[in-house]
Amino acid sequence: MANSDTTFAQSVQSGIAAALIPAPLHDAVTRLCSAAASLARLIALGEIAGDHGSEVGTNLGGDGQKALDVIADELFANALRGSAVCHYASEEQDGVICLAEQGSYGIAIDPLDGSSNIGVNISVGTIFALFPVAETPEATFLRQSDQMVGAGYFIYGPQCCLVISFGAGTQKYTLDPTTGQFVLTAARLTIPAQTSEFAINTSNYHQWHRPIRRFIDDLMQGKNGPRGRAFNMRWVASLVAETHRILTRGGVFLYPGDIRPGYEMGRLRLLYECAPIAFLVTQAGGNATDGRDPILAQPATSLHQRTPFVFGSFDKVARVATYYDTDDRPKA
Ligand code: F6P
Ligand code: MN
Repeated sequence: MANSDTTFAQSVQSGIAAALIPAPLHDAVTRLCSAAASLARLIALGEIAGDHGSEVGTNLGGDGQKALDVIADELFANALRGSAVCHYASEEQDGVICLAEQGSYGIAIDPLDGSSNIGVNISVGTIFALFPVAETPEATFLRQSDQMVGAGYFIYGPQCCLVISFGAGTQKYTLDPTTGQFVLTAARLTIPAQTSEFAINTSNYHQWHRPIRRFIDDLMQGKNGPRGRAFNMRWVASLVAETHRILTRGGVFLYPGDIRPGYEMGRLRLLYECAPIAFLVTQAGGNATDGRDPILAQPATSLHQRTPFVFGSFDKVARVATYYDTDDRPKA
């Protein structure tokens, strides 16, 4: 059950988020915070609360649905009923759900990101993007990503945090489980420019296109390679966890398209994964592209479309694009 006392009240005191956003939007985010705090408690209970990692079906995108995917989806949809959010587009639903006949906003949401990590006690998350409503439920979402009024994620890890932006920098709030409050812990996140970490699933090396292989080859050669220094690699397989690390200490993340059937445009979804992360990262001084072009310039043409995704420290992301100058584009 959602804890109705949960708020991100420190934003009111600091005057950062609350000053920038209308009251109905603040109310919607407060409801998301309550749902996330409930989900964090459930995740922390692990097997005591049941087998949440068991497969219960398949979503439209062909991804296996786990019990916790479905629980999270229902939790967030129910939390928003009665708020100003009337259109709900979820990874777990084929089409847009209308939560109310009228309202001001739509939410695109990945209710439980990184669900392959549920059963192994590794961080998972919730990613969301908020849009102003358009003429039809679909039109609320099928537009250019930069029409977002806000975006964020919750990470359920050693700490539960909310990282959010309404277009004036990116803020971090940390849940104090003793009070149920999300407390402002970073008023303006800035992605470090100097970093030596990259994140990519290297098991797909032989399926990548040449520009990505060349970029990674150059990093892997370390001190004796063209980059002249050593790099470190991380892969959590939880987009929210990779994003949180990169927002904190920099680096670059890549999930490119590759030659595997179904992976031509990579794995990640534009609307409720890449676009909100791109918004947060850009607001934190970083960069986010599909390898070459900005994610936020991409129009969404279907709710569940995928896109190759590269994000992180500004110059690192820009450098990836230079590898395409002499090679085919990812969308060829
Ligand atoms: O939501 C998709 C996702 O679970 C992301 O959180 C993560 O970045 C990615 O898939 C991992 O993909 P793979 O298992 O192919 O490395
Ligand atoms: Mn996901």
